[in-house]
Amino acid sequence: MAKAKTRYVCNSCGDDFPQMYGKCPGCASWGTLQEEIIPTTNTNAIATFANLGTGKSSGKNSSKNIPRESLTLSQITDNQQARSPSGYEELDRVLGGGIVAGSLVLIGGEPGIGKSTLLLGMAQKLMCRYPTLYVCAEESAQQVKLRSQRLGISEEDSESLYLLAETDLEVVLRELQSLRPKVAVIDSIQALYFANLNAAPGSVSQVRECTAALMRVAKRENISLFIVGHVTKEGAIAGPKVLEHMVDTVLYFEGDRFATHRLLRSVKNRFGATQEIGVFEMIDRGLREVSNPSELFLGNRDESVPGTATIVACEGTRPIVVELQALVSPTSYSSPRRTTTGIETNRFLQILAVLEKRIGIPLSKLDAYAASAGGLNVAEPAVDLGVAIAVAASFRDRTVDPRTVLIGEVGLGGQVRPVPQLDLRLKEAAKLGFKKAIVPNMQVMQDYGMEIVTVTKVLDAIVAALPRT
Ligand code: TYD
Ligand code: MG
Repeated sequence: MAKAKTRYVCNSCGDDFPQMYGKCPGCASWGTLQEEIIPTTNTNAIATFANLGTGKSSGKNSSKNIPRESLTLSQITDNQQARSPSGYEELDRVLGGGIVAGSLVLIGGEPGIGKSTLLLGMAQKLMCRYPTLYVCAEESAQQVKLRSQRLGISEEDSESLYLLAETDLEVVLRELQSLRPKVAVIDSIQALYFANLNAAPGSVSQVRECTAALMRVAKRENISLFIVGHVTKEGAIAGPKVLEHMVDTVLYFEGDRFATHRLLRSVKNRFGATQEIGVFEMIDRGLREVSNPSELFLGNRDESVPGTATIVACEGTRPIVVELQALVSPTSYSSPRRTTTGIETNRFLQILAVLEKRIGIPLSKLDAYAASAGGLNVAEPAVDLGVAIAVAASFRDRTVDPRTVLIGEVGLGGQVRPVPQLDLRLKEAAKLGFKKAIVPNMQVMQDYGMEIVTVTKVLDAIVAALPRT
């Protein structure tokens, strides 16, 4: 028998090589190459595979009499009903306005973050309108049933939710073709396998080929498919580039395991804007939608604590008002500690340097900590001014009026730079009852019923936020 040939496939970009490398020559990531056996029954596998999901037999096709299938653009009808609500407004928002018929959505996230809970919740809301198939390749049907009871799905309601506990791709494809549900969930793609492919489930080839076969069926039968993909330690779905190219929409479900809020973020969307976020809260009965996320990330407004500042971060087109806290205190180490939660450490260090050099706050002998409420990741430059003021307030042991928001990017020269979407941020702050906004020198389009203080330097912002009493 001929010796089985192997190849080395990158977990990250999906490229394959005849030899092992520590660093992938394709995408330059380290330690992502995995050994895989090249299928020996290539011809059979490819023939079977080519027919998977096409519903055709492998009989020879003569090139004559092949019907022409292409249409002119004007012949294609624009289907106004193509989008349907998922039942979760937050999910609809990240999808760009609802589920597009026949679209492929990849939902990535760390294990245990709540992907299965989200999709079972969605299936629960959808099933009363049309048949929905939930393929639980990771859990048994009983486990899913238990979860559904926890989510409060009643027996009568579950009539049109079909569960399939199966890991074999061919069975899943057959079921999709016979049931023809409007929406199907594959939980997860890493647990599915195509038996004719000589590679382990979860390997790049399996994930790629299974997705391709599912895509063919979904597009042909007009099924909207939600595919769950686990994120690896490096923060990428196995074979992410390959999968991200294939699917229409890529959503990431993220959050801190110790906090209850969860963010659903769109990183690719053929039918809508990217970087849009949906906010959920994990409670004991599944996921609850949070339509006003600012309330989740604001502390107690009546209590003012030294070192606290409020900012307005923008996630996609969604402004979120978040409370930031900073603490500076004399260090007992040879080099002072700088720690952040939810704020980018490098930007924090840069802001500390600006405060020291341009404002003259001596921070080099002080430990400095900064955190956003709930650990929400606020990585955009518009939060700089809030961080700077929180540090200055902590240093002076003073409080910023809790009804003031700070918006602005801090430059290395100590200047306050303009930020995108200023009006959107101000509108959100006004809606929440903030009375004063310290902002970069930019034109504000509307009167929001707030005092607007424009500043060009960090020092001016400090004077405005921490007036001497
Ligand atoms: P799960 O959806 O299984 O995560 P994933 O599919 O992303 O791996 O979520 C599991 C976590 O969610 C688990 O830690 C328990 C928690 N959870 C709740 O807090 N409330 C609930 O109602 C449910 C169903 C789960
Ligand atoms: Mg799961």
